[in-house]
Amino acid sequence: MDGSFRGEGDLSARDRVRTVAPPPAIADRAGPAPPRRLPSVEPQRRGIGRRTGAALLDDVGTVALPDGPSEPDWWQAIQWFRDPVGYVERGAAAHGSIFRARLGPTGKVAVIGDPAAIRQVLDARPEEVRMGDANGLFRPVVGSSSLLLLDGNEHLRHRRILLPMFRGAAFQRFLELIREIADREISALPERGELPLRRLFDQIAVAVIFEVMLGPADSRRPALIAAFRAVMALSGSPFTLTPQFRKSLGGLSPYGRLMRRLAALDRLFLIEIESRRLDPALADRCDVLSGLIAATDSHGVGLADRELRDQLMTLLMAGHETSAAGLSWAVERLRCNQHCLEPLLASVDGADKLAYLEAFIRESLRQRPVVGVMVRKLLVTAHLGPYSLPPGWIAMNSIVLAHRDPGEYPEPERFRPERFLPPVKEMPLWIPFGGGIRRCIGMALAELEMRVVLRALLSRYLIEPDDRLAAKIGRERFILVPGDHARCQISRR
Ligand code: HEM
Repeated sequence: MDGSFRGEGDLSARDRVRTVAPPPAIADRAGPAPPRRLPSVEPQRRGIGRRTGAALLDDVGTVALPDGPSEPDWWQAIQWFRDPVGYVERGAAAHGSIFRARLGPTGKVAVIGDPAAIRQVLDARPEEVRMGDANGLFRPVVGSSSLLLLDGNEHLRHRRILLPMFRGAAFQRFLELIREIADREISALPERGELPLRRLFDQIAVAVIFEVMLGPADSRRPALIAAFRAVMALSGSPFTLTPQFRKSLGGLSPYGRLMRRLAALDRLFLIEIESRRLDPALADRCDVLSGLIAATDSHGVGLADRELRDQLMTLLMAGHETSAAGLSWAVERLRCNQHCLEPLLASVDGADKLAYLEAFIRESLRQRPVVGVMVRKLLVTAHLGPYSLPPGWIAMNSIVLAHRDPGEYPEPERFRPERFLPPVKEMPLWIPFGGGIRRCIGMALAELEMRVVLRALLSRYLIEPDDRLAAKIGRERFILVPGDHARCQISRR
């Protein structure tokens, strides 16, 4: 293993967290007996391996496992599902920035908030970690060919086919359609009033992702969106999808009802795929589904209907609630941080080529990441700081903890978009979209959507200051959302 991604195909350098330095010799890292605990904010500790991005190496050494909460696994699972941010905050405060969580079927989970260790895990090579196994919960909904569930060569094959659809020339078209949809939805808002803006963002995000994936809306679209929403509404509880609860009971259990709705949605998906395959104008169409039907891998093999269905479902699911939640957090952060209002309005009015708006979005995704953790299953022993995690363990990288690390972000509790204004000397660990070869495939689209929609909203409306407390961080399905639905007082500018 030479610490390189070359040979993995044409994945861009941006798909990696940062360049991997040659791994230090194993003996260097074995060292004397390490301390058992990592205080989460101790500066010397954060220095361990910082920014080396050392690759994980399989090694037979002393296995030092991290400490963690001693509560029974069922109790920890409840805490985690009810309050994922509080759970990792309490764990890190008590046990350090790498701690053991007794979650999942084996209970062998290490929550990692230490930035150096996260860099190591994200920079790991496909033969060192897997993600598909850890995402198995979603299998009944997204299907076995979903990008989320694939690993190794199959994952790379699908990623290589999908990536070009979200890059380059497609962007001008995305920009225009997001503008059009945002203008349409925002022009329907009242002159003033207190509104849960998350509803607006949800409408926009669903319309955007369906047009990106399938092209301009036609007569079939309302039924398709309704069937999709019905499936989403039943996929909310992790208990519905947990293997132990996957019992249909004649279609009467939550899982059985979900399967019925999923079958109805699949029928509509297959009609879309079939009609697209028969479309004589396929080559002129700009939507992702048409691109996927026309695409072939390096052996000239195209995607089967089942594979197309699974990627379609995956992208629709991964690409709408996340963007709506990111936008909701951005207005919530503005509501609570009115010192940003003046530079933000100047920016949306065109004063600085949107530099402050972009920095504001980055800071919002830093303080309020939409996805709390990224999981990787270890195939080799991972030496992370003073710990050695054996194969089979799950590395649960906490985006929430990493973004609050004072070594990366001085005064992390302060909302300061200026951190991201150029020139930024050294980019801190900013991972709301994950990293490495699993980094979010929709990142550029999501950033574009946040920029265009916020600009369209703020160039017409003011978000009034509000001295209410910051919104509680809630969990909905598998993402972090403002508990108050981003309720804001708006008034026409
Ligand atoms: C603000 C919006 C979004 C956020 C915060 C977000 C965040 C993430 C994160 C954290 C991951 C996991 C990365 C990792 O494990 O390293 C991910 C993966 C993924 N995201 Fe997003 N995402 C967003 C929008 C989108 C959009 C718009 C799409 C689709 C067009 C999308 C499609 C995907 C897919 C397919 C994956 C799996 C990638 C793989 O396994 O190779 N996401 N996203």
